[in-house]
Amino acid sequence: MNLTLRQLNIFEAVARHLSFTRASKELHLTQPAVSMQVKQLEDEVGLPLFEQVGKKVFLTEAGKEMQRYAASIQATLAEAGQVFDEMRGLERGRLHISVASTANYFVPQLLASFCQRYPHVHISLDVTNRHRLLDALAANETDLVIMGKPPGNMELVAESFMDNPLVAIAPPNHPLANSRNIPLKRLQEETFLVREKGSGTRSATERFFLEHGVALSSTMEMSSSEAIKQGVEAGLGFGLLSLHTLEMELELKRLVILDVRELPILRKWYIMHRSGKRLSAVAQSFKDFVLSEAVSILNLPSLPKRK
Ligand code: PGA
Repeated sequence: MNLTLRQLNIFEAVARHLSFTRASKELHLTQPAVSMQVKQLEDEVGLPLFEQVGKKVFLTEAGKEMQRYAASIQATLAEAGQVFDEMRGLERGRLHISVASTANYFVPQLLASFCQRYPHVHISLDVTNRHRLLDALAANETDLVIMGKPPGNMELVAESFMDNPLVAIAPPNHPLANSRNIPLKRLQEETFLVREKGSGTRSATERFFLEHGVALSSTMEMSSSEAIKQGVEAGLGFGLLSLHTLEMELELKRLVILDVRELPILRKWYIMHRSGKRLSAVAQSFKDFVLSEAVSILNLPSLPKRK
């Protein structure tokens, strides 16, 4: 059939109002213009679509069929429009993501792969500790958050996508560096470099020592994993950090993972947002991407085999 979308839209308006006058008002057209388009459509179909009985306009059988097709064509076009809107959203959308400082050791790698796929997406990345992430979630300031353990007191959609083991580290020349199966209690005598209050690593570590009845005799507080690694390398004490912060130091053999009987602390990485939040097309795709591909994309250190 050789008809135009304009004819179809005009027909649809007349069929809905059952009035040429009301349809022409709605479409801001003159009544003769509306009648002419309907006439052309009737010529194309080869059947009358409307009949006038007295002053009233009715749809003929052919008109009723045409009304059904018009509705389905309009719905299909609207759906296509939505799909393209979403795709444009992905092409040019913005993604605001906030991550725990520890997650910053792998999130840039994930963002790089994601941006290769969607090169026009604008990304803003906040790196901060767990405590401030919780504030950002509460204030709905961010699309997605990546951190350890979701908080229990907030309505969140949180999904884990990867293990996050915490391990004890020491300089390679420390007498315990080559010991096997070290009892956790033995670490009590050592100085530990610990993250600042508000850090997820810090609270997981504190909980762990408490559960195992271990009270550290001496601690030194440092506000980043980087500072802790430098401090441990320099011989200030031991550290307990996510394995994912240690790639370079392990490779260069500047630090070793201590073989402590009760370690590692087994944690997970979660990607999360407030429940009920309407994720943009970009945020939804990034979340799907992290859940399905993070593990295969990232090349993170693995735990040493137990001897
Ligand atoms: P942190 O984050 O950098 O605050 O220690 C890790 C986590 O959320 O567990």
